[in-house]
Amino acid sequence: MLPLPNSSSLNSESALPSTGVRADFTVDQNWESYSNEDHAIWRELFDRQAALLPGRVVPEFLEGLDFLSVAADGIPDFARLNELLKDATGWTIVAVPGLVPDEVFFDHLANRRFPATHWIRDRAQLDYLEEPDLFHDVFGHVPLLANPVFADYMQAYGKGGLRASGKGALQYLARLYWYTVEFGLIETREGLRIYGAGIVSSKSESIFALESPSPNRIGFDLERVMSTLYRIDDFQETYFVIKSFQSLFNATAQDFAPIYQELDRRPDFDPGVVLESDRVIFRGNGSYHR
Ligand code: PHE
Ligand code: FE
Repeated sequence: MLPLPNSSSLNSESALPSTGVRADFTVDQNWESYSNEDHAIWRELFDRQAALLPGRVVPEFLEGLDFLSVAADGIPDFARLNELLKDATGWTIVAVPGLVPDEVFFDHLANRRFPATHWIRDRAQLDYLEEPDLFHDVFGHVPLLANPVFADYMQAYGKGGLRASGKGALQYLARLYWYTVEFGLIETREGLRIYGAGIVSSKSESIFALESPSPNRIGFDLERVMSTLYRIDDFQETYFVIKSFQSLFNATAQDFAPIYQELDRRPDFDPGVVLESDRVIFRGNGSYHR
């Protein structure tokens, strides 16, 4: 099952920070407070995904993971991770208690800070979680933040979120995030690969997304993606496939304001539909969701 859709937040209820939480919703990671069991859970999840991902994940992810070598032994200390990451792309990781309000999330990204949940799941939830935890946020998201192009895309996304706030367009941006940052696939010379954090951090979806005959794999098209509803409680019915991180960055570099207006006038698409206009890479048989 998919461990955790929603990266740090695309839901718009705002909550007030509680004790120990700063105004920007960050907290101290408090690395010393993790138990041996917490570290053991990290290692188990890490080793499982590290064994599964070669040949399935985009090479840039594995490069990032190697580079962030401090993440292999146990739950990484964000301060040490940040020394490496800051040098590579200027990003840092900040600890948060869980989902944060949209604007707070966008503001962090716009400033090259990635909010990562500071707690890790327990053993009963190794395979399925309803909200992002530390393993998803750090293992899933941080390796690609060491890639310069992906790092720029994430910052541009945050800036776009700040611009879109209050304009009733956040659902379109949420879908873009969902189908790229969380559940994106990419074409490589060796074939389709995963790069979305929601896939990369999930054993079963790492396999399903690439190998199941059930879901559609459709070429990325900005307006198509922003018009498509998604499932948060199960494997995706459709994955969108980018050609490269640079092409994703380029496709999203235009001003979205006119696109939002146009999309407001058009219907949304259900997660499993295939359109005439789609570049269909693989047409799913839908067997899993039926
Ligand atoms: N180009 C978008 C805008 O004009 C911002 C954006 C960039 C959004 C990258 C998502 C990803 O708002
Ligand atoms: Fe996420």
